[in-house]
Amino acid sequence: MTLSDSTQAPAAALSAATLARFSREVAKYPPEQKQSAVMACLSILQQEQGWVSADAEAAVAAYLGMAPIAVREVTTFYNMYNQQRVGQFKLNVCTNLPCQLRDGERALAHLCHKLGIDEGGTTADGLFTVQKSECLGACADSPVLLVNDRQMVSFMSNDRLDDLVETLKAQAK
Ligand code: FES
Repeated sequence: MTLSDSTQAPAAALSAATLARFSREVAKYPPEQKQSAVMACLSILQQEQGWVSADAEAAVAAYLGMAPIAVREVTTFYNMYNQQRVGQFKLNVCTNLPCQLRDGERALAHLCHKLGIDEGGTTADGLFTVQKSECLGACADSPVLLVNDRQMVSFMSNDRLDDLVETLKAQAK
């Protein structure tokens, strides 16, 4: 589906549970500023669906009374939103300058080599996606990476990266 198709399509049906979560986020803002909940609503759909599809963007736009392109601008600006399907474990390695000076690129290369994928790729078994990330605010702990946008891991030597991969494989569903 193209973006232009998605902007014309009706918003995807949202479950009652999802609408209840949206409602709790919207309630944090004055009624006339409900669009401020856009990031939270996109995050909710990503948690539930694993990524933010064009239909998900359209659903958020419709719910918040926003132009679909305005929601699209949010999704594409922040790299924590998955614009395509990702593996069960998304690993974002920081490669901004302070981390580059402290082995961030080495950690990224090791992880890609170990998993047999290029940066941005997903393993054939669907378990791992490896991506670069912007500064995670933990430059002194480099190399650092974020697992599934939630769990930060620090001081990632090659051995620690290998251990992390094995630990996550053991947790795989
Ligand atoms: Fe990597 Fe700040 S530059 S955490």
